[in-house]
Amino acid sequence: MDQQEIFPPPKHFSEKAHIGSMEQCEALYKACAADPEKFWAEQARNLHWFSPWKQVLDWSNPPFARWFIGGKTNIAYNCIDRHLSSARRNKAAIIWEGENFEQRILTYQELYRRVAKFCNALKKLGLKTGDRSIIYMPMIPEAAIAMLACARLGITHSVVFGGFSAEALKARIQDLSASLVITADAGLRRGKEIPLKPNVDEALPECPTVKHQVVFRRLGSKVEMKAGRDHWWHELTDGVSEQCAAEPLDSEHPLYVLYTSGTTGKPKGVVHTTGGYLTQVLSTMKWVFDIKDEDIYWCTADVGWVTGHSYVVYGPLAAGATTLMYEGAPDCPKPDRFWRIIEKYRVSIFYTSPTAIRSFIRQGDDFPNAHDLSSLRLLGSVGEPINPAAWKWYHRVIGKEKLPIVDTWWQTETGCIMISPVPGATPAKPASATRPLPGAAPDILDENGNSIPVGKGYLVLTRPWPAMLRTLHGDPERFKQNYWSRFPGKYFTGDTATRDEDGYIWLLGRNDDVIKVSGHRLSSMEVESALVRHKDVAEAAVIGAPHEIKGEGIHAFVTLKAAAKESPALADELKEWVAKEIGSISRPEKILFVAGLPKTRSGKIMRRLLREVVSADKVVGDTSTLEDYNVILKLTQQGKEEDEILAEKK
Ligand code: WT7
Repeated sequence: MDQQEIFPPPKHFSEKAHIGSMEQCEALYKACAADPEKFWAEQARNLHWFSPWKQVLDWSNPPFARWFIGGKTNIAYNCIDRHLSSARRNKAAIIWEGENFEQRILTYQELYRRVAKFCNALKKLGLKTGDRSIIYMPMIPEAAIAMLACARLGITHSVVFGGFSAEALKARIQDLSASLVITADAGLRRGKEIPLKPNVDEALPECPTVKHQVVFRRLGSKVEMKAGRDHWWHELTDGVSEQCAAEPLDSEHPLYVLYTSGTTGKPKGVVHTTGGYLTQVLSTMKWVFDIKDEDIYWCTADVGWVTGHSYVVYGPLAAGATTLMYEGAPDCPKPDRFWRIIEKYRVSIFYTSPTAIRSFIRQGDDFPNAHDLSSLRLLGSVGEPINPAAWKWYHRVIGKEKLPIVDTWWQTETGCIMISPVPGATPAKPASATRPLPGAAPDILDENGNSIPVGKGYLVLTRPWPAMLRTLHGDPERFKQNYWSRFPGKYFTGDTATRDEDGYIWLLGRNDDVIKVSGHRLSSMEVESALVRHKDVAEAAVIGAPHEIKGEGIHAFVTLKAAAKESPALADELKEWVAKEIGSISRPEKILFVAGLPKTRSGKIMRRLLREVVSADKVVGDTSTLEDYNVILKLTQQGKEEDEILAEKK
C-alpha cells in the first residue's frame, strides 16, 4: 500500500460542489463535534415532519438509541409527495432498463400514482401499520414501488435478495413472522428466467403467518396461483384509487429489517427505523455524492442489499434525484453493458463495487473505450476493500484521470456511509476510504481496547448516529452481545483497519468469520451448516481465500463419512448443494477433502489455521491450542484440491 500517492480533488469539480473545500468540510466536522444534537437537528429539518420531535437523542439506555423522539414523519412522503409541488413533479424519478433492453421511465407523479395504487391494494387485503412484509423481487421498478408503499403505510419490509434460495427465504419469513410476501413470477439474468414465485410457494407451507402473496407479472412465466392466498399485482391494483395519504409515523417506527450474515449460522435481522435513518441517508447523499437536480445517478447495487435501500431507493428519491435501475447482468449481452447504459442515459454519478471494477479490468479497456463516458462527473465504490490497482484503473480508464472517486465504507448496520472522501474537498489516497464523515466517530483499538492513534487494529464507532441499527429483530440480547460487548460502550464493526499519520483510514477486511464474496456478506457457519446437511459430509470448515476478481472466494474443507468416497463428482455435487441450500452467491470455489480438521481442545474449528494453509501453504502463528498438530500437518501435506484429484484419476 503506497500511502504517498495523493490525488487532490479536481478543481473543476470543487468549484461547483456543495462542499468545495477542506475549510467548508472542517466547518461541518466542527459543527457536528461541538454539538452533535444541534447539528443533527439542523440536518433533520431537511425532511418534512408532520409533527416536530421533542428530543433529538435518547441515549439513556445504551446500546438502544432513539432519535427525534416524538417526531412524526413518513419516508415515502419525503421521497415522493414533497417533490410534487415543485418542477420535479414531471422529472424522472426512476429510469429503468430491462436486461432485454426494455425501458421504463417513471416521473415523480407517476411514481406517486403507482405507489398510492399499490397502497390501496394492500389496504384491500387488510394490511396496516405495524404489519410486516417480505419483498422478494427482481430489479424492476415494482421492487421500489413495493418498498415505498410499505413505507407509506408503516408496514415494515424486509427485502430478500432474489438470488436467495427457498430455504434462505423461508428462514427470513419465519424470523420476521411476515403476513405478506410480495414477489414476481420470475426475474431475468443473462437471458435466463430465474424463478421467484415457485421459491415462495416452496417456503410457504412452513410459514403459517403469511396470509397473502402478491405476484407481479414480469415475464409471463407459468405459475400456480392459490385461491385466497395469491393475488396478481395487476388485478389487485386494477381500478383502485390513485390517491392515498401517507401515514404520519413515529420517528422510531421500524422501516425495514434487513437480514445479514454474522458469525453464526443464523442471519441477523438488522432493524432500521424512520426519522434518523432518512436524515443521515439524505445528508450523506449530498456530502458524498454531491447530488444535484441535473444528475442522472446510478448505483448498481441490488435492492436486496442495504446499498439498494439507502442509495438506490431512499437516498436519491429523498434528494429528488433521478435514480437509474438496471435489471440484469453487467456482461449481457456483451461486457460493455454498463458503459452502454452510461452513454445512453448520460449517467453523471456511477457507484459500483470493487468486484465489478476488477471484472471490467479483466475484460479489457476496449469495452469502456468504445463508449462516450463524458457525462460522468463522479465515481464511487463500496462493499469491500478496493485494491490500489483497481482504484487506479477506475480513475484512469473510466474517470479519464479527471473524476474524483469516493471509496465509501459502511455496513448494513450503519445504514449509511460513515467513512468516505467528500469529493470536492478531500484529497484521495487510492484504496483508503479517507476520513470519517460528520457524525461518524470511529476509533482503532488494540486487543485491550486502547486507542491506536497511528497503526492497525479493530475498527469501532464510539458515538451513536441517527441511521444506526436499533436492534436485531426479536433478539436484543444478540444485538448487545454481537456489537457492544467486545469493547464495552463501543460499537464493534468486525473490521480491521489502519490509521495513518494524516488520520486516513484504510480498511483491511473482516476480523471475524464473515466472508466477503464479490462484496456479498456470507458467514462461514452458514455455509458449513449447509454442507453438513449433505448425507456424505461428516464435518466442514469454510474460509474465505483471496480471489482475483471476487476479492474472496469460498474454500470448504470437508471430511466425509466412512461410507462416502471423495471424487470430483462429489465435489461438484457439494458445490451445487450449497448453491441450492443458500443461493448461488454461496457456491464454494473449491472443495478440499481432508482427513481431519484442526480444532482447539474445546472443539472449535481453527479457521485461522486453514486460512494460513491456503494463503501461505504452510502454518505460521500460534498452534499451542491445537488438539492435534498432526491434523494440520496432514492438511498441508495431503489436503488435495479437487483438480489434483482429477489429475490423479486421469
Ligand atoms: C462490510 C459490510 C456497505 C454496504 C455494502 C456492504 C466491507 C464495505 C467497504 C469499503 C473496505 C468495505 C466491510 C464492512 N466494506 N465497504 N469501502 N472498503 N471494506 O454492506 O454487507 O453489511 O458489509 O463490507 O468489511 O464491514 P455489508
